[in-house]
Amino acid sequence: MPPALGHDPRPHEALVTRLARRSLKLVLFIAASLPLLALARGVFRGALAANPYPSVIQSTGLWSLRLLLIGLLLSPLARAGQWSWPLDIRRMVGLFASFYALVHLVVWGKDYGFDWGFLASEVTARPYLAVGFAGALLLVPLAATSTDGSVRRLGARAWRRLHWLAYPAAGLAYLHFVMAGRFTRAEILIDGLVLAALLTLRLARAGRRHLTALRTQYP
Ligand code: HEM
Repeated sequence: MPPALGHDPRPHEALVTRLARRSLKLVLFIAASLPLLALARGVFRGALAANPYPSVIQSTGLWSLRLLLIGLLLSPLARAGQWSWPLDIRRMVGLFASFYALVHLVVWGKDYGFDWGFLASEVTARPYLAVGFAGALLLVPLAATSTDGSVRRLGARAWRRLHWLAYPAAGLAYLHFVMAGRFTRAEILIDGLVLAALLTLRLARAGRRHLTALRTQYP
């Protein structure tokens, strides 16, 4: 039966979808801010050790890596479930990952009184820092091109290509985690498995696309 006049359900559905998307983003924003708020609370209440820097560096590093991996999981999840919501939150997850990496880096610098000469010598002398630094550098173009305007300026294809950098960035961040020698954390294993699964999926997809292109070129 056609909908009665004035009772077209579509505007209502669109409103519900819009509200659901906004609520999801709000929940995500609050959830992703919680580790930072917990750290700030710990620092101000003196609940962390006498020297709070190591705890803050470790926590922000872990959250940056977790969010990088979650960000990479969202596209395969959207494809597998044919959902659009994972794509709606991808940008926010990526920006939070970059933000935690920035705080991680800044707090490390602050721990050494922003003595730039010393910081540079540490990065060149300690391979795990150089690897972390390379990972952080790769996040810069990703964060800088996260706006809708950048997608329009670069074009969707070039933008997608550029954002593949999230894979090497996560790979370097994970290598940095491993090289920091944190083998007592079970997370090192979980993150490694997630990263390996993501890379396998990505390579399998690239391989399939390549084969399809070859088949259309040489039928
Ligand atoms: C993409 C950027 C980065 C990510 C995701 C990241 C992530 C991590 C992770 C997961 C840890 C181990 C935390 C733990 O369980 O103890 C860590 C430790 C650390 N990171 Fe990073 N990191 C990044 C970049 C950097 C940079 C650029 C520096 C400084 C140049 C840095 C300095 C450190 C330090 C000093 C530690 C502590 C190592 C220790 O306690 O022995 N990180 N990082």
